[in-house]
Amino acid sequence: MIRVAVVGIGRMGGKHARNFLKGAVKNAKLVAVCDTDEKVLAAFKAKHADVATYTDYDKMLGEKKPDAVVVATPHYSHSALAKKALEKGISVLVEKPITVTVKDATSLAEVAKAHPEAVFAIMYNQRSNSIYARAKKIIASGKLGDLQRASFTITDWYRTQYYYNMGGWRASWSGEGGGTLINQCVHQLDILQWLIGMPEKIIARCKTEGRNITTENDVTALLLYKNFDCVFTASTHELPGENRLVIVGSKGTMTITRHKATVRYLKMDEKEVNARATRDYGNRADKKYSKSTMYYGLKNYITDALYGQQCNILRDFAAAVEKKDPSLLRARGEEGINALNIINAINMSAWKGKEVSVPVDPDEYEKMLAEKKEGEKTIKK
Ligand SMILES: NC(=O)c1ccc[n+]([C@@H]2O[C@H](COP(=O)([O-])OP(=O)(O)OC[C@H]3O[C@@H](n4cnc5c(N)ncnc54)[C@H](O)[C@@H]3O)[C@@H](O)[C@H]2O)c1
Repeated sequence: MIRVAVVGIGRMGGKHARNFLKGAVKNAKLVAVCDTDEKVLAAFKAKHADVATYTDYDKMLGEKKPDAVVVATPHYSHSALAKKALEKGISVLVEKPITVTVKDATSLAEVAKAHPEAVFAIMYNQRSNSIYARAKKIIASGKLGDLQRASFTITDWYRTQYYYNMGGWRASWSGEGGGTLINQCVHQLDILQWLIGMPEKIIARCKTEGRNITTENDVTALLLYKNFDCVFTASTHELPGENRLVIVGSKGTMTITRHKATVRYLKMDEKEVNARATRDYGNRADKKYSKSTMYYGLKNYITDALYGQQCNILRDFAAAVEKKDPSLLRARGEEGINALNIINAINMSAWKGKEVSVPVDPDEYEKMLAEKKEGEKTIKK
């Protein structure tokens, strides 16, 4: 049994804390929570009097000496809070995104590396959607052949102005360090890089549509890989939205929508189809040479998406801490840098209005982000 603490018990951290209390993670006991907002703490205390509450994080770590901490505060504070725990040899599960900039994430990863006695994990809960694990196996097996193109459309994270008004930190450069990309789409960008790797270059356009916020809520980006391209489209302001990942290879096409994957395998590689053809098939070649296979991930996507995925990650984390075995994690903390590299590059390309290489210069990104924060000061909401 490990002793765990949660820092930041708002919307998400509050759920993590309650799930530990409900026994959703069998080998973990919640011993303390910390939040800088006394009202939030008092409301928690009123329902769970037996859990120690703190406004002072250092004091909590010093007095309760937990085995592990779950960091669920706004993004900019992730790195400092995680480092403090890791430096004491306390394991850390940090909520997504790992932090806001690659420079900061790199320094956090260095601290984690210097403390191998502590497990360092990130809450990339969508990795527990088994359809993505299935997709990863199919791609790695070579059954799709050589990758030729991909597209990821994510317009189903609908967010209203009410949502943005809920916490002062949301969708501003100074409070959150970004909008749709860093908050919502960090999940899908992690899945994308997990499945097909990192792009070499990016060209992007980011816009703010229909909401009184200062960051992007509408993104179109072209991710250039060595041998193929991926079109990435995301928005949090349109209805009805969709979530569709298409990966096209020389031997098949995989389409994933939420929990379901349809793969149309070719009977032979397209290069062979072309070499053997003695007539112009047009679209009829599709029928002649392909067959479809359906794969299903979660039995109940809706229930799972609501909280099951996060519980899966909490359970893996607790097991990894208890057994001192990071290989039990679905996503190690350091892996959080990959999606952040893509996000920082999309932002920089949009700011500069031109193609950028991945990774972008971390110091230049810090400088441009600081300018965005400065610019925000003069915007009246
Ligand atoms: N994995 C997911 O699906 C998922 C879903 C929602 C949010 N999140 C992540 O969870 C984190 C929190 O988001 P939220 O929606 O719960 O925000 P929130 O505003 O509802 O809660 C954040 C809480 O942290 C507290 N806090 C702020 N700074 C603090 C500090 N330095 N020390 C202690 N407490 C502090 C605030 O008082 C607040 O209660 C974010 O990183 C977000 O991206 C993840």
